[in-house]
Amino acid sequence: MPVITFIEHNGTEHRVEAPVGSTAMQAAVNNGVPGVLADCGGSCSCATCHGYVDEMWTGSLSSAKADELDMLGGALDMKHNSRLTCQILLTAAMDGLIIRLPESQI
Ligand code: FES
Repeated sequence: MPVITFIEHNGTEHRVEAPVGSTAMQAAVNNGVPGVLADCGGSCSCATCHGYVDEMWTGSLSSAKADELDMLGGALDMKHNSRLTCQILLTAAMDGLIIRLPESQI
């Protein structure tokens, strides 16, 4: 199973294992990572699962689709490497993925 590292805004790191085929958001929520609210449960309609994909990984992930980009437009502190973690489907190749979390989701 890929290991994903979430880094809170205050620098606290959380290394979690998650099954291939699940999403980065599910990995965070299932492991109690603070800062990923995921209010809509992963249907790309709340933007409270916002995270920043580490620069080393931005080229390795599939691009955000139009509906994700629309939702990200309403997220706080959007950056060029912003993604909705519920739209990041985990593969074995994502072992070591690093996602930083914003100071606030709302
Ligand atoms: S969980 Fe709502 S948009 Fe990702």
